[in-house]
Amino acid sequence: MDDMISWMQEGGQVGIFDATNSSRARRNMLMKMAEGKCKIIFLETICNDERIIERNIRLKVQQSPDYAEEPDFEAGMRDFKTRLANYEKVYEPVEEGSYIKMIDMASGHGGQLQVNNISGYLPGRIVFFLVNTHLTPRPILLTRHGESRDNVRGRIGGDTVLSSEAGQLYSKKLANFVEKRLKSERAASIWTSTLQRTILTARPIVGFPKIQWRALDEINAGVCDGMTYEEIKKNMPEEYESRKKDKLRYRYPRGESYLDVIQRLEPVIIELERQRAPVVVISHQAVLRALYAYFADRPLKEIPHIEVPLHTIIEIQMGVSGVQEKRYKLMD
Ligand code: F6P
Repeated sequence: MDDMISWMQEGGQVGIFDATNSSRARRNMLMKMAEGKCKIIFLETICNDERIIERNIRLKVQQSPDYAEEPDFEAGMRDFKTRLANYEKVYEPVEEGSYIKMIDMASGHGGQLQVNNISGYLPGRIVFFLVNTHLTPRPILLTRHGESRDNVRGRIGGDTVLSSEAGQLYSKKLANFVEKRLKSERAASIWTSTLQRTILTARPIVGFPKIQWRALDEINAGVCDGMTYEEIKKNMPEEYESRKKDKLRYRYPRGESYLDVIQRLEPVIIELERQRAPVVVISHQAVLRALYAYFADRPLKEIPHIEVPLHTIIEIQMGVSGVQEKRYKLMD
């Protein structure tokens, strides 16, 4: 807690103090520590559904590092239940300060949200995020579109179709892959940008709804749209150098920066968090770098340099113990 408070004082915006804090005395102590330094919002999740509790305990014992050394599954279950019973003995419901209480919301059907003494933009976004997030395991498949004509020419941006060989071949290979991988997943969906190259990449995939998102469009290169990197270097050397110096913050004249892209992806991220069925996201290099960084928990400054090659699927498995990743290279 001390560590977190000093990080907040150095400019941190949101810190998560992940602990049980089930007694009033304990919460009072935390509020005292934070007094005049940062704002505290308590988050209490209440679940009265025995089946969900049982499922969560099972997942916890199976997947949590706490039980990695416990070879006997039943012993792990007993241990966790004892732990729960001990917490129950000292538990006092949250009734003080600012808090968000999520009651029976885990199933995704109904439930209740109590919000007390919360105001301001960021706390409001936190409430919105929490209402939409859950732990139901499901995969998210991220891929760039198949090679486009502009990719072949080395031109950035634009809205060209797929190259007639590699690009179109990838769209077929991707359709095969998705069909096999999501065979039994009726509720899955395919998300693309509004640019032709992603829509055409999705075209051979059948049997799933397709949704176009403007927020998934590639970074807007503004006055540089349609140019090659060499042309930018030659004709606009200052722009080229500024981007090289700070690729994250650099904004193309009349276009976007990576920070702009990250910001416009917020609704996409919330919607991905909310989905309980698999989603295939067919988008573009800069956008996928930002999305991937969110799920893989990569630092902001790395985002513009993350490798997201063409013709490769990044499968992100969302679950109780965080996020796992697999890459499938369908073509060179
Ligand atoms: O070259 C393909 C592309 O998707 C361009 O349209 C886009 O400007 C670029 O990648 C983004 O990558 P970087 O930020 O490395 O220039």
